[in-house]
Amino acid sequence: MTFKQEIERRRTLAVIAHPDAGKTTLTEKLLLFGGAIHIAGAVKSNKILKPATSDFMEIERQRGISVSTSVMTFEYCDRKINILDTPGHEDFAEDTYRTLTAVDSVIIVIDGAKGVELQTRRLMEVCRMRNTPVIVFINKLDRESKDPFDLLDEIEKELKINVVPLSWPIGDGASFKGVYNRFEKKLQLFYSVNKQKSDAGILEIIDLKSDEAVTALGEANKRLQDDLEIIETVYPEFDKTEYDAGKLAPVFFGSAVNNFGVRELLNCFVEIAPYPQKSITDTREISPFESKLTGFVFKIHANLDPNHRDRIAFLKICSGVFERNKPYFHVASKKQIRFSSPNTFLADKKSIVDKSFPGDIVGLHDTGTFKIGDTLTEGEILNFKGIPNFSPELFRYIENADPMKSKQLAKGIDQLMDEGVAQLFTLKINNRKIIGCLGMLQFDVIQYRLEHEYGAKCKYEPIALYKACWFESDDKNQLDNFMTRKYHNIALDKYGRNVYLADSAYALKMAEDKFNKIKFHFTSEMTSVSYE
Ligand code: G4P
Repeated sequence: MTFKQEIERRRTLAVIAHPDAGKTTLTEKLLLFGGAIHIAGAVKSNKILKPATSDFMEIERQRGISVSTSVMTFEYCDRKINILDTPGHEDFAEDTYRTLTAVDSVIIVIDGAKGVELQTRRLMEVCRMRNTPVIVFINKLDRESKDPFDLLDEIEKELKINVVPLSWPIGDGASFKGVYNRFEKKLQLFYSVNKQKSDAGILEIIDLKSDEAVTALGEANKRLQDDLEIIETVYPEFDKTEYDAGKLAPVFFGSAVNNFGVRELLNCFVEIAPYPQKSITDTREISPFESKLTGFVFKIHANLDPNHRDRIAFLKICSGVFERNKPYFHVASKKQIRFSSPNTFLADKKSIVDKSFPGDIVGLHDTGTFKIGDTLTEGEILNFKGIPNFSPELFRYIENADPMKSKQLAKGIDQLMDEGVAQLFTLKINNRKIIGCLGMLQFDVIQYRLEHEYGAKCKYEPIALYKACWFESDDKNQLDNFMTRKYHNIALDKYGRNVYLADSAYALKMAEDKFNKIKFHFTSEMTSVSYE
């Protein structure tokens, strides 16, 4: 196979959802249909059971299990599909956001009874920032669900994306009869299922007016015909360009646990989902077809087991071929590094890989060299753009609790921030350090890891802050004025950029109104900086 063919057959995606919507179930079913596993239940769920806050070690243990499912690869219709797993716990949302920078498209799972939920909205915001193509799967139709037209309206309104239903449900809950597949133009009836296998429980009828269809659907047939007519007039035709631009989302209905609607979703996915696309760096655009290797680290997984302190850095390959034992240029340290045992992942197995292509993810063993956003090349100096930092929502002062260990504390905090566990802000006025997180658990994780990995002790003190925002302006006067007026609330982030720490929503609103020539950003791009 040529290099070009290798790239064009790759599809790298993430399945994302609000917890409990069915992400794990759907992912597993995609693997089942792709033949990567043969029986449901073979993939360990990365769903994190909800222990008490203090039980974060249990969560980390479960996360440890999920390292091997970080990337799941399978072949389907001559395509090589890489599914990038995302943590099932909301407190690790930032991990999920960063994973989204490494995919070329996403499948969003929505619970048909609940509709669009908080985490679905947030995840979609990240997709929108990057114009990531989206397919929506509305799940759990075997249970009582919202009206399908209402669900589509909700998606359009709440997720701010146009939709085109490519399948249509016939009833829901106890009266769920199946779906009409508009993409493949056939009726699929839902009856007894064998959840463990991929080929059970579907009766296909091509002609909607046939006696078979009329008998099977009964009363529901008329309603289906009416619905389909409405769909034809209300929704646009599927337009691949609009989908590629992240403006139009095809929608499928089904029931993942019953394998229903999953094959249709997968068939459509392999047909329309984009292969690896161009990436933007701080110097130029990179085409995946370029012969020289480029790639970036989007995730670092630390091992909390004291006997195995190694970390795995996940590298997304953006161009060229990644080869085992070949030296690559680590832009941040300006050093050549070679990797003797880069890993790929298949269901629950890890294996050493000799060659990987754009779209693939390799796991690199790391002893503390890498940080999130780092770039590998064959010598060129560039940094990939679009690995964002999100405005944290929870803040605490972090203080040294053991004055003898201040060096260890500084090193520990520095390395944990490199891993992207949380964000550190240093107040300009008094140099006090503030940790900002998206989930409460992160505070416990940091405290524990500082103690167990770095021998340092920290304590937290409360601080009432609403949001951290990065800001910029062409109006120097206004910027200076703002910095002077808000001096107590200005901090530096890890990269030395100014950040405004707003005390309240009201204070932020007032600042936005008063300093109208300043742009406030709630995400920043986490670019690599050289260790000069
Ligand atoms: P998540 O990864 O998005 O958090 O969700 P997950 O797949 O773990 O699914 C959450 C729950 O929803 C699971 O039930 C799962 O079995 C159920 N589920 C998934 N798809 C469907 C579906 O199509 N129909 C119905 N009725 N349920 C579905 P659970 O009770 O939490 O776990 P389990 O004991 O069944 O595994």
